[in-house]
Amino acid sequence: MNAQTPSPSALVSNPSAAERAAVLHTWSIQSQWNAPTVVSGSGAWFIDQDENRYLDFSSMAECCNLGHQHPKVIAAIKAQADRMCYVQPGWGSEPRAALASRLIEKSGLTGGKVFFTLAGADANENAVKFARWVTGKSKIITRYRSYHGATHMTLDLGGDNRAWHTQTGFDGIVHALPPYCYHCPFGLKYPACGIHCADHVAELIEYASPENVAAVLVEPHAGTNGIVAPDEYWPRLREICNRYNVLLIADEVMSGFGRVGEWFAWQKYGLENAPDMMTLAKGLTGAHVPLGAVVVNKRVADYFDDHLLESGLTYSGHPLACAAGVAAMDAYEQENLIQRSRELGAWLMTRLQEMKQRLPIIGDVRGQGLFAIVELKQFAWPQTLPQLKKLVSEGRQRGISFAVRGNLIVISPPLVIEQEDLAHGLKVMEELLS
Ligand SMILES: Cc1ncc(COP(=O)(O)O)c(C=O)c1O
Repeated sequence: MNAQTPSPSALVSNPSAAERAAVLHTWSIQSQWNAPTVVSGSGAWFIDQDENRYLDFSSMAECCNLGHQHPKVIAAIKAQADRMCYVQPGWGSEPRAALASRLIEKSGLTGGKVFFTLAGADANENAVKFARWVTGKSKIITRYRSYHGATHMTLDLGGDNRAWHTQTGFDGIVHALPPYCYHCPFGLKYPACGIHCADHVAELIEYASPENVAAVLVEPHAGTNGIVAPDEYWPRLREICNRYNVLLIADEVMSGFGRVGEWFAWQKYGLENAPDMMTLAKGLTGAHVPLGAVVVNKRVADYFDDHLLESGLTYSGHPLACAAGVAAMDAYEQENLIQRSRELGAWLMTRLQEMKQRLPIIGDVRGQGLFAIVELKQFAWPQTLPQLKKLVSEGRQRGISFAVRGNLIVISPPLVIEQEDLAHGLKVMEELLS
C-alpha cells in the first residue's frame, strides 16, 4: 500500500471503496468487481446505500425465496438468540430437532433422518460420503453442465467451467451428458429420442460396473446451467438406480423450497420416485442465515444405527439457523408460497412464450414455477455474451437485478413477488433485449 492509499479501516464511511480495498470477491477478477452496497430490503426489493431500489429478479443467489427481511424469520432468529445461541452437536437442541422433524414430514421420507451442514457444498460432500459408506462402493455419476458447490470435491462433482482451474480429478467421479433438449448432446429430438439421456446413465453404470457405482447425484430441476430435463427423465433415473442398486441423490439446493412450485422438485414425480438422499440449503432459511442439510431415507438412516457416522461440523444444526429454518417453513406454508410459485410461474411462462414470438434473439424458454430459463439463440457457454453483461448493467440502472450465465437469463424472483412487479421486470427485460 503506498502513501496515497487509505487503509481499509479508514474507508468504512465509503463501503464500496472498502469492499474493493479489503474483500476478495467470489468468482471475480478483483479489479473488475464494482457493485453498489446493499443496505436494506423488503419483499422482492432491495435498496443500496444511495437509496436506489432494485427489483430482485434472481432472489440474490437464487436463495431469498421468502423475499428480503421476512419478519417471521427475523423474529425467530431474535427469539432464539435471546434463549440459546449455540449448542454443540453432542448435545440436544430444540430448533434442530424441530427442523429435522419438519423436513422429514414435508419430504415424506418416513423413517429418514437429517444431517445438518452449513451450506449446499458441504451437504453434497456429506451425501457422497454417506453413499460410499452405505453401499460399500465408490463411484459417483454426476452430469456435465451441473453445479454442486465450490469445495474441492464438489467442484469435481459439478460439470461446468467453474471447476476448470481447480479440478484435480477426484477418484471415482464420472460425468454423464446432460438432458438438454434444446441442443441435445446426442443429436436426438424429444420425444422420439425415448429419453436416451437417461439410458445413457445406465450405460455409464454398466461401463463403470454396477459393483463400483455408489450413487447418481443430479439436480432434479434446472440450476444456473439451465438444463431442464423432460418429465420422463427423473422416474427413469429412479428405475435405473433401483435396477443397479445405486443410490439416487437429488441436489435440491437451488430447486427446493418452492422454487419450482413443489417443496422439493422431485416431488413432481411422486413418492415412489423419491431419491435416497436430498441435499438442501438456500431456501431452507430463505438465506436469512446460512444452513444446509442432507435428508436421508430410512435405508440410509438405518445404516447409521450401528455404524459410526464419521463426519462432523462445529456448527451442524446451529440453533439460530435451525430456528430460522422452522420459521421459514412456517412462512412457506402459511403464505401458500409453494402453490403461489406454481401459479405465478405458469403465468410467467406464458409471458415468456409470447416474448419469444416477438423477439427473434430468444431461442428457447423453459422452466417450472418461479424458475425460468431464457436461452438466446446465439450460443455461448460458458462465457457470458456481451449483450447479457449489458443487460445486467443497464438493468441495474433501470432498477432491476438480473442474473445471466453464458447465453442464459435465469429468472428466479422471490416467491413473494407481486405479479405487477414481475410484469414490470419482464417489460424492462424485453426493452433491453430489443
Ligand atoms: C444446485 C446447487 N448445489 C450446490 C450449490 C452450492 O451451495 P453453497 O454455495 O451454499 O455451498 C449450489 C449453489 O449455487 C447449487 O446451485
